[in-house]
Amino acid sequence: MVARTIPVESFDLVIFGGTGDLARRKILPSLFRRMRAGQMPADARVIACARGKMSRKEFQDLIRDSLEEFIPAPEDRPAELVDAFMDALEFVTLDAKGETGWAELGKKLRADRVRAFYLSVGPSLFGTIAQKLHDHELATPESRIVVEKPLGHDLASAKELNRQLTANFDEHQIYRIDHYLGKETVQNLMALRFANALFEPLWNAQHVDHVQITVAESIGVEGRGEYYDKSGAMRDMVQNHIMQLLCLTAMEPPAKFDPDAVRDEKLKVIRALDPVKPQDTVRGQYRANGEGSYLDHVGNPDSTTESYVALKVAVHNWRWAGTPFYLRTGKKLRTRMSEIAVVFKEVPHSIFPEVSARKSNALIIRLQPDEGITLRMTIKDPGPGGMRLREAPLDMTFADALGDNPEAEADAYERLVMDVIRGNQTLFMRGDEVEAAWAWTDKIIADWEDDHEPPQPYDPGGSGPEDALALMHRDGRRWREVDG
Ligand code: BG6
Repeated sequence: MVARTIPVESFDLVIFGGTGDLARRKILPSLFRRMRAGQMPADARVIACARGKMSRKEFQDLIRDSLEEFIPAPEDRPAELVDAFMDALEFVTLDAKGETGWAELGKKLRADRVRAFYLSVGPSLFGTIAQKLHDHELATPESRIVVEKPLGHDLASAKELNRQLTANFDEHQIYRIDHYLGKETVQNLMALRFANALFEPLWNAQHVDHVQITVAESIGVEGRGEYYDKSGAMRDMVQNHIMQLLCLTAMEPPAKFDPDAVRDEKLKVIRALDPVKPQDTVRGQYRANGEGSYLDHVGNPDSTTESYVALKVAVHNWRWAGTPFYLRTGKKLRTRMSEIAVVFKEVPHSIFPEVSARKSNALIIRLQPDEGITLRMTIKDPGPGGMRLREAPLDMTFADALGDNPEAEADAYERLVMDVIRGNQTLFMRGDEVEAAWAWTDKIIADWEDDHEPPQPYDPGGSGPEDALALMHRDGRRWREVDG
């Protein structure tokens, strides 16, 4: 299949924190891949800013090494393309809080092209940089500013961040990244729901028994202990990534696929969420004898931060009243697996003998790995011997169905950065959306804090704490297996 790649306009992308981990690991390799795909115009430039002194050549060498590290196969890095990419890179030593470097950055920026500022720095610098860009007259009315989580720690801090950004940039210029929205299958969820007539009539409380959203990770906190221990699974995953999956699953069809139409509908879902009762929440923390415990990994023997959360959530609106959404995410689980399972109600009356295995239909949207869709069906067990039923999957793995399409493999950051340049905010969070998500999250966290109960231990490599199983069992339902 031939990929259709439309080049974006010429641009200057300024990356603050340009020598940092995210820039080296994700943003620059993603841009390189877009250049390789023919989407990044030859005269586009990436201007990295960082506090340390570095020559342009030293910066180019650093990024050459990063490409080798993060795009390991040499055939994916043709030498002439790597050289062309190096030509697009510039470096400015800049002090975000002081005066050094701003004038030099200004001299490098060209008029008549898209200008985007990617703040790949901690949120404490967002406001300062936005202000400096304004004071030095580097931000035009059409410039974009890109920020990424953590977008606050609670509602108050999220509001303050929004205030700082909107003091100098209009909402239409602000691109808040949630990298889950850049994932191919997450976007496919919208295609599945709104480009097929088949599912939408069934997509409601009348036909759907419940929905399960799982983001299971096999990794632990991986050297990010200091950040993670202050955050926990609720703030790190539920407030943002899982909330986005919930919104895309539960939202009404927008009138059109345009940024505000889509984001208005997502916001309505968040606002329709009932406060979650403490008995509908489970917190877990992975524990092992000796090394390998969460407490070791974050270097805090007294930590009560959760590395696992399970919630039973009600979307209080006409479409979903009575259909619970069960959400769970955790680290150090058996395998890496993310999916949305829409479990339908059973047939109202069975005409078949009870000996038959009968399970309700379920539509499983696999986000990663092995992206695809499975529809769980009941069929007749083949052969003579009576009318026995069995379960069979109707399975579509996108890799098989779509053939060898390198574009499908694109990293979330590739799509998102190109969308920034194109000026398309559909896959970015609006300020009010982030705030509404925090308002809902804050209440759950406040209840936990009042409760003083420590998180429930669970074994690394397992499927989470016992209480999470009970959360479903008491409703006569069960989680799908966490397996690969
Ligand atoms: C990040 C979280 O936002 O998402 C991490 O901070 C988590 O803790 C990661 O591991 C998961 O992303 P992905 O794309 O690997 O599912």
